[in-house]
Amino acid sequence: MIPQSEYLQRRQRLMAQLPQGSAVLVASGVNQSRGNDTEFPFSQDSDFYYLTGFNEPNAWLYMSNFALNADGSDPSSSQNHHSVLFCQPKDKAMEIWHGLRLGVEQACDALLVDEAMEIDDLEEALPELLNNHAQVYFLLGSNGDDEALIFSALQVLRSAPKQSKSAPSCIVDLAPVLHEMRLIKSAAEIQVMQKAADISCEAHKRAMLYAKPGVYEYQLEGEILHEFVMSGARTPAYNTIVGSGVNACILHYTNNHSALKDGDLVLIDAGANYQGYAADITRTFPANGKFTEEQATLYNLVLQSQLQAMEILVPGGTFKQATDKAVEIICTGLIELGILSGSLEDNVKNMTWRAFFMHGLGHWLGLNVHDVGMYKINGEDRPLQPGMVLTVEPGIYIDHDADVEDKWKGIGIRIEDNILITEQGNVVLTAAVPKTIADIEALMAQR
Ligand code: GLY
Ligand code: MN
Ligand code: MN
Repeated sequence: MIPQSEYLQRRQRLMAQLPQGSAVLVASGVNQSRGNDTEFPFSQDSDFYYLTGFNEPNAWLYMSNFALNADGSDPSSSQNHHSVLFCQPKDKAMEIWHGLRLGVEQACDALLVDEAMEIDDLEEALPELLNNHAQVYFLLGSNGDDEALIFSALQVLRSAPKQSKSAPSCIVDLAPVLHEMRLIKSAAEIQVMQKAADISCEAHKRAMLYAKPGVYEYQLEGEILHEFVMSGARTPAYNTIVGSGVNACILHYTNNHSALKDGDLVLIDAGANYQGYAADITRTFPANGKFTEEQATLYNLVLQSQLQAMEILVPGGTFKQATDKAVEIICTGLIELGILSGSLEDNVKNMTWRAFFMHGLGHWLGLNVHDVGMYKINGEDRPLQPGMVLTVEPGIYIDHDADVEDKWKGIGIRIEDNILITEQGNVVLTAAVPKTIADIEALMAQR
Protein backbone atom coordinates (compact mmCIF):
# COMPACT_ATOMS: atom_id res chain seq x y z
CA MET A 1 0.00 0.00 0.00
CA ILE A 2 1.47 3.33 -1.01
CA PRO A 3 1.10 5.85 1.86
CA GLN A 4 -0.72 9.15 1.24
CA SER A 5 2.46 10.99 2.18
CA GLU A 6 4.08 9.61 -0.96
CA TYR A 7 1.37 11.09 -3.17
CA LEU A 8 1.98 14.47 -1.50
CA GLN A 9 5.72 14.09 -2.09
CA ARG A 10 5.07 13.35 -5.76
CA ARG A 11 3.02 16.55 -6.08
CA GLN A 12 5.77 18.49 -4.36
CA ARG A 13 8.46 17.00 -6.59
CA LEU A 14 6.43 17.79 -9.68
CA MET A 15 5.77 21.40 -8.67
CA ALA A 16 9.41 21.95 -7.71
CA GLN A 17 10.35 21.18 -11.32
CA LEU A 18 8.00 23.71 -12.91
CA PRO A 19 8.82 27.40 -13.29
CA GLN A 20 7.23 29.76 -10.79
CA GLY A 21 3.77 30.89 -11.79
CA SER A 22 2.70 27.47 -13.05
CA ALA A 23 -0.76 25.96 -12.70
CA VAL A 24 -1.34 22.24 -13.24
CA LEU A 25 -4.64 20.51 -14.01
CA VAL A 26 -5.19 16.74 -14.09
CA ALA A 27 -8.60 15.10 -14.51
CA SER A 28 -9.69 11.72 -13.16
CA GLY A 29 -11.23 9.01 -15.28
CA VAL A 30 -14.99 8.84 -15.87
CA ASN A 31 -17.37 5.91 -15.81
CA GLN A 32 -17.88 4.24 -19.19
CA SER A 33 -21.41 3.08 -19.98
CA ARG A 34 -21.93 -0.44 -21.26
CA GLY A 35 -25.59 0.21 -22.02
CA ASN A 36 -28.79 0.76 -20.10
CA ASP A 37 -27.85 1.62 -16.52
CA THR A 38 -24.69 -0.48 -16.31
CA GLU A 39 -21.09 0.54 -16.55
CA PHE A 40 -17.75 -1.10 -17.23
CA PRO A 41 -15.64 -1.53 -14.10
CA PHE A 42 -14.22 1.91 -13.30
CA SER A 43 -10.60 2.37 -14.32
CA GLN A 44 -8.89 5.44 -12.86
CA ASP A 45 -6.76 7.70 -15.04
CA SER A 46 -3.21 6.63 -14.22
CA ASP A 47 -1.73 10.15 -14.14
CA PHE A 48 -4.45 11.34 -11.77
CA TYR A 49 -3.96 8.26 -9.60
CA TYR A 50 -0.19 8.72 -9.52
CA LEU A 51 -0.64 12.21 -8.07
CA THR A 52 -3.54 11.54 -5.69
CA GLY A 53 -4.06 7.84 -4.91
CA PHE A 54 -7.76 8.74 -5.25
CA ASN A 55 -9.92 6.16 -6.99
CA GLU A 56 -13.19 7.99 -7.71
CA PRO A 57 -14.44 9.27 -11.06
CA ASN A 58 -15.49 12.90 -11.71
CA ALA A 59 -12.61 14.59 -9.94
CA TRP A 60 -9.87 17.09 -10.87
CA LEU A 61 -6.60 18.01 -9.24
CA TYR A 62 -5.41 21.61 -9.45
CA MET A 63 -1.98 22.74 -8.26
CA SER A 64 -0.29 26.10 -8.35
CA ASN A 65 3.18 27.17 -7.33
CA PHE A 66 2.28 30.82 -7.94
CA ALA A 67 1.16 32.26 -4.63
CA LEU A 68 3.63 30.50 -2.43
CA ASN A 69 6.64 31.26 -4.56
CA ALA A 70 5.82 34.89 -5.25
CA ASP A 71 7.31 35.82 -1.88
CA GLY A 72 10.60 34.24 -2.81
CA SER A 73 10.11 31.15 -0.66
CA ASP A 74 12.04 28.05 -1.64
CA PRO A 75 10.02 26.29 -4.34
CA SER A 76 11.40 22.93 -3.29
CA SER A 77 10.25 23.32 0.32
CA SER A 78 7.35 21.20 1.56
CA GLN A 79 5.02 24.17 1.10
CA ASN A 80 5.97 24.66 -2.51
CA HIS A 81 2.48 24.63 -3.94
CA HIS A 82 -1.21 25.02 -3.28
CA SER A 83 -3.52 22.16 -4.22
CA VAL A 84 -7.27 21.93 -4.71
CA LEU A 85 -9.15 18.68 -5.25
CA PHE A 86 -12.51 18.88 -7.00
CA CYS A 87 -14.60 15.79 -6.23
CA GLN A 88 -18.11 14.41 -6.03
CA PRO A 89 -20.00 15.70 -2.98
CA LYS A 90 -21.53 13.36 -0.41
CA ASP A 91 -25.06 12.56 -1.63
CA LYS A 92 -27.20 10.02 0.20
CA ALA A 93 -29.34 9.05 -2.79
CA MET A 94 -26.36 8.64 -5.13
CA GLU A 95 -24.45 6.70 -2.49
CA ILE A 96 -27.35 4.30 -1.92
CA TRP A 97 -27.24 3.42 -5.61
CA HIS A 98 -23.57 3.65 -6.46
CA GLY A 99 -21.49 3.41 -3.30
CA LEU A 100 -19.87 5.70 -0.76
CA ARG A 101 -18.00 8.81 -1.81
CA LEU A 102 -15.10 10.45 -0.03
CA GLY A 103 -16.79 13.85 -0.23
CA VAL A 104 -15.47 17.38 0.04
CA GLU A 105 -15.33 17.47 3.87
CA GLN A 106 -13.01 14.45 4.14
CA ALA A 107 -10.82 15.13 1.12
CA CYS A 108 -8.20 17.38 2.71
CA ASP A 109 -7.44 15.00 5.57
CA ALA A 110 -7.64 11.85 3.48
CA LEU A 111 -5.64 13.06 0.48
CA LEU A 112 -3.43 15.75 2.08
CA VAL A 113 -4.61 18.43 -0.34
CA ASP A 114 -4.93 22.04 0.79
CA GLU A 115 -8.53 22.61 -0.32
CA ALA A 116 -11.44 20.60 -1.63
CA MET A 117 -14.42 21.74 -3.70
CA GLU A 118 -17.37 20.13 -5.43
CA ILE A 119 -16.73 19.04 -9.00
CA ASP A 120 -19.82 20.97 -10.12
CA ASP A 121 -18.03 24.19 -9.08
CA LEU A 122 -15.01 23.49 -11.27
CA GLU A 123 -16.13 25.42 -14.33
CA GLU A 124 -16.88 28.55 -12.34
CA ALA A 125 -13.72 28.36 -10.22
CA LEU A 126 -11.30 27.63 -13.04
CA PRO A 127 -10.78 31.17 -14.43
CA GLU A 128 -9.82 32.55 -11.00
CA LEU A 129 -7.54 29.56 -10.29
CA LEU A 130 -5.66 30.20 -13.54
CA ASN A 131 -5.64 34.00 -13.23
CA ASN A 132 -2.19 35.63 -13.21
CA HIS A 133 -0.33 32.40 -13.91
CA ALA A 134 2.37 32.50 -16.55
CA GLN A 135 1.74 28.96 -17.77
CA VAL A 136 -0.77 26.17 -17.41
CA TYR A 137 0.26 22.52 -17.64
CA PHE A 138 -2.13 19.73 -18.57
CA LEU A 139 -2.06 16.49 -20.54
CA LEU A 140 -2.45 17.77 -24.08
CA GLY A 141 -4.58 15.70 -26.41
CA SER A 142 -5.84 13.25 -23.81
CA ASN A 143 -9.46 14.44 -23.53
CA GLY A 144 -11.23 16.97 -25.73
CA ASP A 145 -13.94 17.80 -23.19
CA ASP A 146 -11.37 18.58 -20.49
CA GLU A 147 -9.39 20.74 -22.88
CA ALA A 148 -12.53 22.62 -23.89
CA LEU A 149 -13.20 23.43 -20.23
CA ILE A 150 -9.67 24.80 -19.78
CA PHE A 151 -9.75 26.81 -23.00
CA SER A 152 -13.06 28.32 -22.05
CA ALA A 153 -11.60 29.40 -18.66
CA LEU A 154 -8.69 31.03 -20.50
CA GLN A 155 -11.19 32.83 -22.72
CA VAL A 156 -13.01 34.17 -19.67
CA LEU A 157 -9.73 35.62 -18.39
CA ARG A 158 -8.78 37.10 -21.76
CA SER A 159 -12.13 38.83 -22.11
CA ALA A 160 -12.19 40.28 -18.58
CA PRO A 161 -13.05 44.02 -18.59
CA LYS A 162 -10.11 46.40 -19.05
CA GLN A 163 -7.68 43.52 -18.84
CA SER A 164 -8.29 43.24 -15.12
CA LYS A 165 -7.26 39.62 -15.30
CA SER A 166 -4.37 37.87 -16.94
CA ALA A 167 -4.59 34.53 -18.72
CA PRO A 168 -1.58 32.22 -18.88
CA SER A 169 0.06 32.89 -22.22
CA CYS A 170 1.76 29.54 -22.29
CA ILE A 171 0.09 26.12 -22.49
CA VAL A 172 2.50 23.28 -21.78
CA ASP A 173 2.15 19.51 -22.03
CA LEU A 174 2.42 17.98 -18.57
CA ALA A 175 3.30 14.55 -19.97
CA PRO A 176 7.08 14.85 -20.38
CA VAL A 177 7.80 15.93 -16.81
CA LEU A 178 5.12 13.78 -15.14
CA HIS A 179 5.88 10.67 -17.16
CA GLU A 180 9.59 10.98 -16.49
CA MET A 181 8.70 10.81 -12.78
CA ARG A 182 6.48 7.77 -13.32
CA LEU A 183 9.26 5.96 -15.18
CA ILE A 184 11.45 5.70 -12.07
CA LYS A 185 9.66 3.62 -9.47
CA SER A 186 9.86 4.33 -5.74
CA ALA A 187 10.52 1.66 -3.10
CA ALA A 188 6.79 1.57 -2.29
CA GLU A 189 5.84 1.20 -5.96
CA ILE A 190 8.35 -1.63 -6.38
CA GLN A 191 6.78 -3.46 -3.42
CA VAL A 192 3.34 -3.19 -4.97
CA MET A 193 4.66 -4.27 -8.37
CA GLN A 194 6.39 -7.28 -6.79
CA LYS A 195 3.02 -8.25 -5.29
CA ALA A 196 1.30 -7.87 -8.70
CA ALA A 197 4.06 -10.08 -10.13
CA ASP A 198 3.76 -12.69 -7.35
CA ILE A 199 -0.01 -12.99 -7.81
CA SER A 200 0.45 -13.30 -11.57
CA CYS A 201 3.11 -16.01 -11.16
CA GLU A 202 0.75 -18.06 -9.00
CA ALA A 203 -1.98 -17.62 -11.61
CA HIS A 204 0.26 -18.91 -14.40
CA LYS A 205 1.23 -21.93 -12.29
CA ARG A 206 -2.44 -22.60 -11.57
CA ALA A 207 -3.24 -22.55 -15.30
CA MET A 208 -0.35 -24.92 -16.09
CA LEU A 209 -1.66 -27.33 -13.48
CA TYR A 210 -5.21 -27.18 -14.89
CA ALA A 211 -4.26 -27.51 -18.55
CA LYS A 212 -4.81 -30.72 -20.50
CA PRO A 213 -6.16 -31.64 -23.92
CA GLY A 214 -9.89 -30.91 -24.12
CA VAL A 215 -9.84 -27.97 -21.72
CA TYR A 216 -10.99 -24.71 -23.33
CA GLU A 217 -8.76 -21.68 -23.53
CA TYR A 218 -11.41 -19.63 -21.69
CA GLN A 219 -11.32 -22.15 -18.85
CA LEU A 220 -7.61 -21.46 -18.41
CA GLU A 221 -8.51 -17.76 -18.45
CA GLY A 222 -10.98 -18.55 -15.67
CA GLU A 223 -8.26 -20.23 -13.61
CA ILE A 224 -6.03 -17.19 -14.07
CA LEU A 225 -8.76 -14.71 -13.08
CA HIS A 226 -9.75 -16.86 -10.09
CA GLU A 227 -6.22 -16.69 -8.73
CA PHE A 228 -6.04 -12.93 -9.31
CA VAL A 229 -9.27 -12.21 -7.48
CA MET A 230 -8.63 -14.63 -4.62
CA SER A 231 -5.29 -12.89 -4.06
CA GLY A 232 -6.76 -9.40 -3.92
CA ALA A 233 -6.25 -8.33 -7.53
CA ARG A 234 -9.82 -7.64 -8.65
CA THR A 235 -9.02 -7.06 -12.30
CA PRO A 236 -6.46 -8.15 -14.86
CA ALA A 237 -4.07 -5.45 -16.07
CA TYR A 238 -5.15 -6.22 -19.67
CA ASN A 239 -7.31 -8.77 -21.44
CA THR A 240 -5.95 -12.24 -20.82
CA ILE A 241 -4.51 -14.01 -23.86
CA VAL A 242 -4.81 -17.81 -23.95
CA GLY A 243 -3.81 -19.07 -27.38
CA SER A 244 -3.38 -22.77 -28.10
CA GLY A 245 -1.80 -24.15 -31.26
CA VAL A 246 -1.79 -21.65 -34.09
CA ASN A 247 -3.87 -19.20 -32.03
CA ALA A 248 -0.60 -18.38 -30.25
CA CYS A 249 0.52 -16.70 -33.47
CA ILE A 250 -2.17 -14.00 -33.02
CA LEU A 251 -0.29 -11.56 -30.83
CA HIS A 252 -3.26 -10.00 -29.03
CA TYR A 253 -5.60 -13.02 -29.32
CA THR A 254 -8.38 -12.75 -26.74
CA ASN A 255 -11.19 -14.87 -28.22
CA ASN A 256 -9.91 -17.73 -26.05
CA HIS A 257 -12.64 -20.01 -27.42
CA SER A 258 -10.74 -23.07 -28.70
CA ALA A 259 -10.21 -26.39 -26.96
CA LEU A 260 -6.61 -27.43 -26.25
CA LYS A 261 -5.45 -30.26 -28.48
CA ASP A 262 -2.97 -32.98 -27.66
CA GLY A 263 0.38 -31.91 -29.08
CA ASP A 264 -0.42 -28.16 -29.01
CA LEU A 265 1.55 -25.53 -27.22
CA VAL A 266 -0.47 -23.06 -25.14
CA LEU A 267 0.62 -19.42 -24.87
CA ILE A 268 -0.77 -17.50 -21.89
CA ASP A 269 -0.11 -13.78 -21.59
CA ALA A 270 -1.73 -12.60 -18.35
CA GLY A 271 -0.99 -10.12 -15.60
CA ALA A 272 -2.83 -8.87 -12.54
CA ASN A 273 -3.68 -5.29 -11.75
CA TYR A 274 -2.79 -4.95 -8.07
CA GLN A 275 -3.51 -1.62 -6.41
CA GLY A 276 -3.36 0.01 -9.83
CA TYR A 277 -0.04 -1.54 -10.92
CA ALA A 278 0.37 -4.08 -13.71
CA ALA A 279 2.26 -7.31 -14.12
CA ASP A 280 2.68 -8.69 -17.64
CA ILE A 281 3.82 -12.31 -17.92
CA THR A 282 3.82 -14.76 -20.80
CA ARG A 283 4.54 -18.46 -20.58
CA THR A 284 4.23 -21.08 -23.29
CA PHE A 285 3.81 -24.74 -22.36
CA PRO A 286 2.58 -28.01 -23.88
CA ALA A 287 -1.11 -28.87 -23.42
CA ASN A 288 -0.17 -32.46 -22.58
CA GLY A 289 2.79 -31.56 -20.36
CA LYS A 290 5.59 -32.71 -22.73
CA PHE A 291 7.31 -30.58 -25.39
CA THR A 292 7.85 -32.20 -28.80
CA GLU A 293 11.34 -32.03 -30.26
CA GLU A 294 10.44 -29.15 -32.62
CA GLN A 295 8.64 -27.24 -29.88
CA ALA A 296 11.56 -27.70 -27.50
CA THR A 297 14.07 -26.54 -30.11
CA LEU A 298 12.21 -23.31 -30.84
CA TYR A 299 11.38 -22.81 -27.16
CA ASN A 300 15.02 -22.97 -26.15
CA LEU A 301 15.88 -20.49 -28.87
CA VAL A 302 13.38 -17.97 -27.49
CA LEU A 303 14.58 -18.67 -23.95
CA GLN A 304 18.24 -18.13 -24.87
CA SER A 305 17.41 -14.88 -26.63
CA GLN A 306 15.52 -13.68 -23.55
CA LEU A 307 18.23 -14.66 -21.06
CA GLN A 308 20.97 -13.02 -23.11
CA ALA A 309 18.92 -9.88 -23.70
CA MET A 310 18.36 -9.63 -19.95
CA GLU A 311 22.10 -9.53 -19.35
CA ILE A 312 22.23 -6.32 -21.35
CA LEU A 313 19.22 -4.76 -19.61
CA VAL A 314 21.24 -3.26 -16.75
CA PRO A 315 22.19 0.34 -15.94
CA GLY A 316 23.74 1.92 -19.03
CA GLY A 317 22.39 -0.75 -21.42
CA THR A 318 19.62 0.06 -23.91
CA PHE A 319 16.53 -1.66 -25.33
CA LYS A 320 18.21 -1.38 -28.74
CA GLN A 321 21.35 -3.24 -27.65
CA ALA A 322 19.24 -5.96 -26.02
CA THR A 323 17.01 -6.23 -29.08
CA ASP A 324 20.05 -6.59 -31.34
CA LYS A 325 21.31 -9.43 -29.14
CA ALA A 326 17.95 -11.21 -29.11
CA VAL A 327 17.66 -10.85 -32.89
CA GLU A 328 21.17 -12.21 -33.40
CA ILE A 329 20.35 -15.31 -31.36
CA ILE A 330 16.96 -15.88 -32.99
CA CYS A 331 18.39 -15.36 -36.49
CA THR A 332 21.35 -17.67 -35.88
CA GLY A 333 18.99 -20.37 -34.60
CA LEU A 334 16.48 -20.00 -37.42
CA ILE A 335 19.29 -20.24 -40.01
CA GLU A 336 20.65 -23.40 -38.35
CA LEU A 337 17.17 -24.93 -38.47
CA GLY A 338 16.68 -24.03 -42.14
CA ILE A 339 13.78 -21.71 -41.35
CA LEU A 340 15.84 -18.78 -42.64
CA SER A 341 18.57 -19.07 -45.24
CA GLY A 342 21.66 -17.04 -46.04
CA SER A 343 24.15 -15.30 -43.80
CA LEU A 344 23.46 -13.93 -40.34
CA GLU A 345 24.57 -10.51 -41.51
CA ASP A 346 22.18 -10.43 -44.48
CA ASN A 347 19.25 -11.72 -42.44
CA VAL A 348 19.82 -9.14 -39.73
CA LYS A 349 20.24 -6.36 -42.28
CA ASN A 350 17.19 -7.36 -44.35
CA MET A 351 15.12 -7.97 -41.23
CA THR A 352 13.91 -11.36 -42.49
CA TRP A 353 13.39 -12.33 -38.86
CA ARG A 354 10.48 -9.86 -38.67
CA ALA A 355 8.34 -12.56 -40.32
CA PHE A 356 8.73 -14.65 -37.15
CA PHE A 357 9.36 -12.07 -34.38
CA MET A 358 7.13 -9.16 -35.29
CA HIS A 359 6.91 -7.17 -32.06
CA GLY A 360 9.28 -5.24 -29.82
CA LEU A 361 11.47 -6.86 -27.20
CA GLY A 362 9.69 -5.10 -24.33
CA HIS A 363 8.19 -1.97 -22.86
CA TRP A 364 8.00 0.05 -19.66
CA LEU A 365 5.67 -1.36 -17.02
CA GLY A 366 3.89 0.43 -14.17
CA LEU A 367 0.41 1.84 -13.62
CA ASN A 368 -0.22 1.09 -17.30
CA VAL A 369 0.79 -2.21 -18.80
CA HIS A 370 2.39 -0.29 -21.65
CA ASP A 371 3.62 2.35 -19.26
CA VAL A 372 4.58 5.95 -19.91
CA GLY A 373 8.06 7.35 -20.42
CA MET A 374 10.27 8.16 -23.38
CA TYR A 375 12.23 5.37 -25.05
CA LYS A 376 14.54 7.79 -26.84
CA ILE A 377 16.01 11.11 -25.83
CA ASN A 378 16.92 13.49 -28.66
CA GLY A 379 16.58 10.56 -31.04
CA GLU A 380 19.05 8.40 -29.09
CA ASP A 381 18.11 5.19 -27.26
CA ARG A 382 18.15 6.06 -23.59
CA PRO A 383 20.43 4.15 -21.21
CA LEU A 384 18.56 2.23 -18.52
CA GLN A 385 18.60 3.52 -14.94
CA PRO A 386 17.89 1.95 -11.54
CA GLY A 387 14.19 2.10 -10.69
CA MET A 388 12.92 1.42 -14.21
CA VAL A 389 10.64 -1.61 -14.60
CA LEU A 390 10.26 -3.21 -18.00
CA THR A 391 9.20 -6.37 -19.77
CA VAL A 392 11.48 -8.67 -21.78
CA GLU A 393 9.39 -10.68 -24.20
CA PRO A 394 10.98 -12.20 -27.30
CA GLY A 395 8.93 -14.65 -29.36
CA ILE A 396 8.86 -16.83 -32.45
CA TYR A 397 5.57 -17.31 -34.29
CA ILE A 398 5.26 -19.62 -37.31
CA ASP A 399 1.84 -19.44 -38.91
CA HIS A 400 0.32 -22.14 -41.13
CA ASP A 401 1.06 -20.18 -44.29
CA ALA A 402 4.77 -19.62 -43.52
CA ASP A 403 7.22 -20.77 -46.17
CA VAL A 404 8.91 -23.37 -43.95
CA GLU A 405 8.89 -27.15 -43.42
CA ASP A 406 5.50 -28.37 -42.18
CA LYS A 407 6.92 -29.58 -38.86
CA TRP A 408 7.43 -25.98 -37.72
CA LYS A 409 4.00 -24.69 -38.64
CA GLY A 410 1.44 -23.71 -36.02
CA ILE A 411 4.01 -23.04 -33.31
CA GLY A 412 3.82 -19.72 -31.44
CA ILE A 413 6.10 -19.09 -28.47
CA ARG A 414 6.61 -16.02 -26.29
CA ILE A 415 8.41 -15.84 -22.97
CA GLU A 416 7.80 -12.62 -21.04
CA ASP A 417 9.20 -11.54 -17.68
CA ASN A 418 9.19 -8.27 -15.77
CA ILE A 419 12.49 -6.89 -14.55
CA LEU A 420 13.51 -4.07 -12.24
CA ILE A 421 16.75 -2.26 -13.08
CA THR A 422 18.91 -1.96 -9.97
CA GLU A 423 22.32 -0.45 -9.20
CA GLN A 424 23.80 -3.95 -9.44
CA GLY A 425 22.04 -5.03 -12.63
CA ASN A 426 18.46 -6.23 -12.64
CA VAL A 427 16.03 -8.30 -10.61
CA VAL A 428 13.46 -10.56 -12.28
CA LEU A 429 10.17 -9.82 -10.50
CA THR A 430 8.45 -12.77 -12.17
CA ALA A 431 11.01 -15.52 -11.55
CA ALA A 432 8.56 -17.62 -9.51
CA VAL A 433 6.81 -19.13 -12.51
CA PRO A 434 8.67 -22.01 -14.21
CA LYS A 435 10.43 -21.12 -17.44
CA THR A 436 12.89 -23.84 -18.42
CA ILE A 437 11.54 -26.90 -20.21
CA ALA A 438 12.59 -29.08 -17.29
CA ASP A 439 10.84 -26.88 -14.72
CA ILE A 440 7.63 -26.57 -16.77
CA GLU A 441 7.46 -30.31 -17.40
CA ALA A 442 8.19 -31.03 -13.73
CA LEU A 443 5.34 -28.75 -12.57
CA MET A 444 2.92 -30.19 -15.12
CA ALA A 445 3.86 -33.74 -14.09
CA GLN A 446 2.17 -32.94 -10.75
CA ARG A 447 -1.27 -32.71 -12.41
N1 GLY B 1 0.28 -8.15 -22.75
C1 GLY B 1 0.65 -7.23 -23.75
C2 GLY B 1 2.09 -7.18 -23.94
O1 GLY B 1 2.77 -8.14 -23.65
O2 GLY B 1 2.64 -6.19 -24.31
MN1 MN C 1 2.23 -9.57 -22.21
MN1 MN D 1 4.28 -7.00 -22.53
